[in-house]
Amino acid sequence: MAWYKVASPLQNDESFIKKVKAGSQTVCLINNEGALHAVSAKCPHAGADLSAGWCEQGKLVCPYHRYSYDLLTGRGSPGQNDYVSVYPVDSRDDGIYVEINSLWEKIKRIFH
Ligand code: FES
Repeated sequence: MAWYKVASPLQNDESFIKKVKAGSQTVCLINNEGALHAVSAKCPHAGADLSAGWCEQGKLVCPYHRYSYDLLTGRGSPGQNDYVSVYPVDSRDDGIYVEINSLWEKIKRIFH
């Protein structure tokens, strides 16, 4: 497990969606209705940049074909049969951090 600093500390409660780098992953960092979320930045449908999308009713909406993904679980809306990865986010005094697990760590978890 590794935490990566991806942004400066929050200055206000203003909502935003931005693309950030967390280790080797490109992540969508989202502040929606006072809650921080981090999801994979690439839409699983056809590869659009989800950071160009918007939030609606707790979901991130893709700008291309408007598929939507739950901000908490990453699950696609009914009928989509897809999902985006979600990552833990932590707001600390010195910035916003996202946790990324390497493939090796994911494999180790399966066998422990
Ligand atoms: S590329 Fe995102 S919905 Fe099609």
